[in-house]
Amino acid sequence: PWDETRGAEIIAEHAQQEGATLVILHALQEAFGYVPEAAIPMVAQALNLSRAEVHGVFTFYHDFRHKPAGHHVLKLCRAEACQAAGGDALAARAETKLGVSLGNTTADDRVTLEPIYCLGLCATAPSAMLDGRLIGRLDEKRLDALVAEAQR
Ligand code: FES
Repeated sequence: PWDETRGAEIIAEHAQQEGATLVILHALQEAFGYVPEAAIPMVAQALNLSRAEVHGVFTFYHDFRHKPAGHHVLKLCRAEACQAAGGDALAARAETKLGVSLGNTTADDRVTLEPIYCLGLCATAPSAMLDGRLIGRLDEKRLDALVAEAQR
């Protein structure tokens, strides 16, 4: 869970670094699993930026979670090679099966479904990642198995 003291320490640790906004947002997500809204004004203050500037960076990148993730995180690659290999239909199938759109968590907090933009597995597209495990050559059957595994 979010801890303001720890958050402030993380912000202070990285405030002098080049590209500090991104570095800090990544560090916060690493520590807490998401970037709490409450951290935005703290980052802005530490870096002498406006809240809108920090918020702009936060929302521009797809990597940052606005809420804690579910027990399992299923990422589907939405970049070009995977799209060309049928990724759109697979993403739609996963959304239907889980009852959430990409970027959201199921109501029972079991599964977070997220887009990701290239996993470096283009040669075996379409690709996915379940809790950090890479999966290539996705098809309907393999996707269904992944979704079932994530729901367990
Ligand atoms: Fe999907 Fe590269 S485009 S792994």
